Amino acid sequence: MRIAITGSAGQLGQALQKVLSGEELLLIDLPDYDITNYAQLQRAIVDFQPQVVIHTAAFTDVDGCELKPETAYRVNALGTQNVALACQNCDAAMVYISTDYVFDGTKGEPYWEWDRPNPQSAYARSKLAGEYYTQTLLRKFYIVRTAWLYSRTGMNFVKKVLQLADQHDQLYFVTDEVGSPTYAPDLADALRKLIAHPLYGIYHLTNTGVCSRYEWAKAILELAGRPDYPLFPTQGYARPAKVPAHCELRNFCAATQLGITLRPWREALVDYFHG
Ligand SMILES: NC(=O)c1ccc[n+]([C@@H]2O[C@H](COP(=O)([O-])OP(=O)(O)OC[C@H]3O[C@@H](n4cnc5c(N)ncnc54)[C@H](OP(=O)(O)O)[C@@H]3O)[C@@H](O)[C@H]2O)c1
Repeated sequence: MRIAITGSAGQLGQALQKVLSGEELLLIDLPDYDITNYAQLQRAIVDFQPQVVIHTAAFTDVDGCELKPETAYRVNALGTQNVALACQNCDAAMVYISTDYVFDGTKGEPYWEWDRPNPQSAYARSKLAGEYYTQTLLRKFYIVRTAWLYSRTGMNFVKKVLQLADQHDQLYFVTDEVGSPTYAPDLADALRKLIAHPLYGIYHLTNTGVCSRYEWAKAILELAGRPDYPLFPTQGYARPAKVPAHCELRNFCAATQLGITLRPWREALVDYFHG
């Protein structure tokens, strides 16, 4: 299969390159390709004539988006419009990677794929705008919402916790932010399975189960061989962007239609450290 991957140098992009190494790939990332450059992107994608474009490129710094909303909308909304138009031009299917942050986190139970989004930050609003472009411009699309991505490549919460633990005598992490840590290689493998079927629509794909930032940090330090590190729970971390307090994405569609599920988040984290 001919597959283009945007954001190919990112956490998910690199994991996708691994699981799709047997396919013909076009890798799209800065500095060679900029998804906000309409003409350049159309040329690159239409010349390649992919069957599928997996669009992971985004301005992913959630607080950065709050401080620079124009950049957030330019990359996450208009960049996605450009990718969708390129797919339209060569009749490719598009996979748009979206986020649990499109929800406000107040539901009190897991979010279904059909629940109404209510984004609370510039990042989340710009990603939801990307969902709208994908849905309105294309017939062949998969919108895949995921959460709390980490991998061995790139900067993420796991690495940040270990870095901070080296720099400080004790650490505090919040219990009032709950989500699903998701190992990028697991998501990449699920995406590989998903694009084998023309079952277009909206999907929720995360590792199974939820934890708070505090519980996640505790598991990270334990698995890194530092179970006695002084780690304390706290609440109400002040930051520029408002993020959902409790967001669990229920994987109903991929599990029911295709039997695609991801393993529990703790098992994936063990793999990250010892796999
Ligand atoms: N990370 C999470 O916790 C999380 C959670 C839910 C959903 N998601 C979504 O999942 C997707 C993948 O996330 P990730 O963690 O793999 O992201 P990532 O590691 O930040 O990778 C994103 C990649 O996109 C590139 N990029 C940014 N702007 C671009 C542009 N204008 N043109 C071309 N490439 C550009 C980045 O390059 P530079 O590094 O040079 O900017 C980077 O290589 C994103 O769409 C994100 O919104 C992420």
